Amino acid sequence: GAPVEVALGAIAPGQQVLVTWRQKPVWVLRRTPDMLQRLRSGELESRLLDPDSQADQQPEYAENPVRSVRPDIFVVVAICTHLGCIPNFRPEVGETPFDPRWPGGYFCPCHGSKFDFAGRVFKGVPAPLNLVVPPYRYTQRDTVIIG
Ligand code: FES
Repeated sequence: GAPVEVALGAIAPGQQVLVTWRQKPVWVLRRTPDMLQRLRSGELESRLLDPDSQADQQPEYAENPVRSVRPDIFVVVAICTHLGCIPNFRPEVGETPFDPRWPGGYFCPCHGSKFDFAGRVFKGVPAPLNLVVPPYRYTQRDTVIIG
């Protein structure tokens, strides 16, 4: 499959776009300072299965709390690591039907797997691994090339 180019200029903070790369859905999310602060604070770590992404093959830049090259821009394959559903983007924080203390992130409606804004999977859900970060790079300040 050919690499996919995504212009970042039109993505507002807190919003994401869906693109297709190698017939897979891929999200490009522009995280807000609040989202980044929560990921970096360590407050989620005790709830996460693999906060440093050590369990699976990931690009080196995915093995940190924000799992990205550039902190604000998060690029991730939008496929649940359980059985392949597309999780829902659930940016709200607080009580939700699926979590009384939801920190915001991605929720898979198929069997209830939960991931934070870095695609890190929570403990106690069926998904065994963090969401997959694809290979990507920047060629210009506001363009990312996936693949
Ligand atoms: Fe996502 Fe099962 S496919 S929880």
